[in-house]
Amino acid sequence: MAQQFEDKFHRKFYYLRLSVTDVCNFKCTYCLPDGYHPSGQKNSSFLSVPEIKRVVRAFADCGTSKVRITGGEPSLRKDFPDIIHTVASTQGIQKVATTTNGYRMDKQVGLWRDAGLTHINVSVDSLDPRMFYQITGENKFQQVMKGIDRAFEVGFEQVKVNVVLMKGLNHTELPSFIHWIKERPIQLRFIELMQTGEMDQLFNERHVSGTAIRNQLMADGWLLRPKAKNDGPAQVFFHPDYKGEIGLIMPYEKDFCQSCNRLRVSAKGKLHLCLFGDQGIELRDLLQDDIQETQLIHRIQTELQSKSVSHFLHEGNTGITPHLASIGG
Ligand code: 5AD
Ligand code: SF4
Repeated sequence: MAQQFEDKFHRKFYYLRLSVTDVCNFKCTYCLPDGYHPSGQKNSSFLSVPEIKRVVRAFADCGTSKVRITGGEPSLRKDFPDIIHTVASTQGIQKVATTTNGYRMDKQVGLWRDAGLTHINVSVDSLDPRMFYQITGENKFQQVMKGIDRAFEVGFEQVKVNVVLMKGLNHTELPSFIHWIKERPIQLRFIELMQTGEMDQLFNERHVSGTAIRNQLMADGWLLRPKAKNDGPAQVFFHPDYKGEIGLIMPYEKDFCQSCNRLRVSAKGKLHLCLFGDQGIELRDLLQDDIQETQLIHRIQTELQSKSVSHFLHEGNTGITPHLASIGG
């Protein structure tokens, strides 16, 4: 193995979030409220399967064992099963995850599993079909629910469900969500609404602090699971009476970035050291031939030395990320 990716704060990077497309067919209020619009650059396609293979191999050779395939909506790519297979068959990669809006899950999750997918996250912002429609712009609640059932049928032991609670929309649904996981091995992931560049009023109007949710959970007997070595920033709670678990992702907490174990590569091949506020470092010129791997690793190692200790969101920095579909959340 080449030297493990590590930054100057001794954070090691086991986890790559790889976006494979910016395109999404949902219009989530907090992400793409007006739907997806292609960005201005001409002739720039998303990473090809051979390019994906090379980037994943370089990361795996430097200690990465988990890859999450993200987007946009990754399953909109016709070669999505191929992509999964490419990642899963890379030596050293033990976990292959994806985050999906669930739109194609009902029909395709079996194919994804056969291709080597080991973990799945699906976004469900409401258990009320009308609110689901209001938040996502798509009337697909039942389809997504079927997709989750199907994931269990084809052999996934746990499904993670992402929820962004927002004031005045779905924030009163906390009890229904908790009830929903009593008998289901679902890990709910409550993600605090994050402010991005294209969001004006939304953040101020809708942001719900994770602290209130945490207090509520603790009062109801939920217990914090101690963190294992490679765990990322989520705080995970369990309860003896529930099959499901609850993860809290609170990026506005001061020490959130201390356990950062991830790097991101965008759908057009830029390395992002942080979700917030970096322009991205071009990698694509070094993804054209297998013999470039040493150079590629060298570039990543060098750039990693400039990774910041924190995103400083708690000090009001919003960064320049226009919306999270652009770098895969
Ligand atoms: N704030 C919080 N979470 C977001 N996501 C996308 N944009 C935001 C944002 N501004 C998350 C959603 C979705 C995942 C793909 O990205 O939780 O489930
Ligand atoms: Fe890591 Fe940036 Fe996320 Fe903080 S915000 S945990 S530094 S990627």
